[in-house]
Amino acid sequence: MPPVRDSSGLLHLGGVSLAELVRPLGTPTYVYDVDAMAAGARELVAAFADAPHLVAYAVKANTAGRVIRALAGAGCGADVVSGAELRVALACGVAPDRVVYSGVAKTDDEIDAALSCGSRGIGAVQVESLEEIGRLEARARATGRRARVGIRANPSLDLKGVTHANIATGHDEAKFGVPRGDVLRAVALVDASPHLELVGIGAHVGSQFMSDGPYLESARALFEFIRGARASGRARSLAFVDTGGGFGVDYTGERTDVLRPADFVATVRREMRAAGLDDLALYVEPGRSLVAPHGVLVARVIQPKVAAVARWLMIDAGMNDLMRPALYQARHRIVAIDGPATPPLAVPWRVVGPVCESSDDFGEHLLPVDPPNAVAILDAGAYGFTMASRYNGRQLPLEAFVSGGSVVATTKRDSVDAWVAERVGV
Ligand code: LLP
Repeated sequence: MPPVRDSSGLLHLGGVSLAELVRPLGTPTYVYDVDAMAAGARELVAAFADAPHLVAYAVKANTAGRVIRALAGAGCGADVVSGAELRVALACGVAPDRVVYSGVAKTDDEIDAALSCGSRGIGAVQVESLEEIGRLEARARATGRRARVGIRANPSLDLKGVTHANIATGHDEAKFGVPRGDVLRAVALVDASPHLELVGIGAHVGSQFMSDGPYLESARALFEFIRGARASGRARSLAFVDTGGGFGVDYTGERTDVLRPADFVATVRREMRAAGLDDLALYVEPGRSLVAPHGVLVARVIQPKVAAVARWLMIDAGMNDLMRPALYQARHRIVAIDGPATPPLAVPWRVVGPVCESSDDFGEHLLPVDPPNAVAILDAGAYGFTMASRYNGRQLPLEAFVSGGSVVATTKRDSVDAWVAERVGV
């Protein structure tokens, strides 16, 4: 559940008061409701009923072991994009068969790791170019493993304007995916190799889509590729179609029309039946939608600054802790953790962090005229900690995990001393 306010005005996440939680831990601190993440994942998995499927959680959204284990326990596999993410997913108990691996520039070492785990390697190495097929084949030969291959296609959809340009990945200029015109060639190349087994065709056309339009367009392009390949006697070993991730999250908290991933699943299964592709499993790769709403970033207010032109509220979290506003002009709601969300004496504050960059700016928010001690930045469970950095000599934020109504784990506060010593020492 997203955070709720109790009758005395204290904000709670997963049954824990954020004010009490951060008192001993300090700030900035990410807090996650792990049970709510698992409940959402269970709901999505249940939407498939008995249709063959894999909900491959896109680990890049939140790489914490507590989160991955909870989602795996709820029936998810993993979508990874690096050898390091692969290792985390496997070590958190995700079965190799239930891992898919995308990435435009996997190194030989990363490919070898993917091929050599378990008895048959991971579920699918998703190739993103014709060139990668040759490299993958060479590594499969070298490691003596027959690689299970997914082709990540680029369906050539112009979705600029539908989502932020920086997170649209299925258009012609994007580096991602096998270009639309080369997909059937890719199928033929994989089919022809004794070292490769074509198991999937998929796409990931971007993130933060609020309706099913872009996915369906992409899915239909995939169906066309598959039917084309099958018509020429190819892709006989194909086992799944993968429609990628990208289900949007309502960062405003006000929309009622946001696509429910479970509804999307029902629609795609229907279209697969109509296209004669019912024999294939449906894979999806949601990241953000499973974890974003169930995480907050708690920050302390350092001081206000009031000038003729603006009222700034300086907090101790910056763009190094949560990069999304600076990188995508994203807006996250910000609320006081120890008072009503919009009290009568609320005024617009421009909430900014301490980093020496103009883009270290979380936007204007209605907050009490007497600044609160601390605030929560909402919907920060995805792409928050995973994109954090130590820019400006700042420390990585702490993470706290809530389950069963209490804090079950925390990370350690990053050390200033260690950073100073490391920098001085080189
Ligand atoms: N599958 C693939 C191959 C991906 O590249 C991604 C995200 C996903 C699945 C999951 O997408 P999701 O369901 O989370 O939208 N840092 C950005 C998002 C970049 C996403 C990159 N790829 C943000 O904070 O909005």
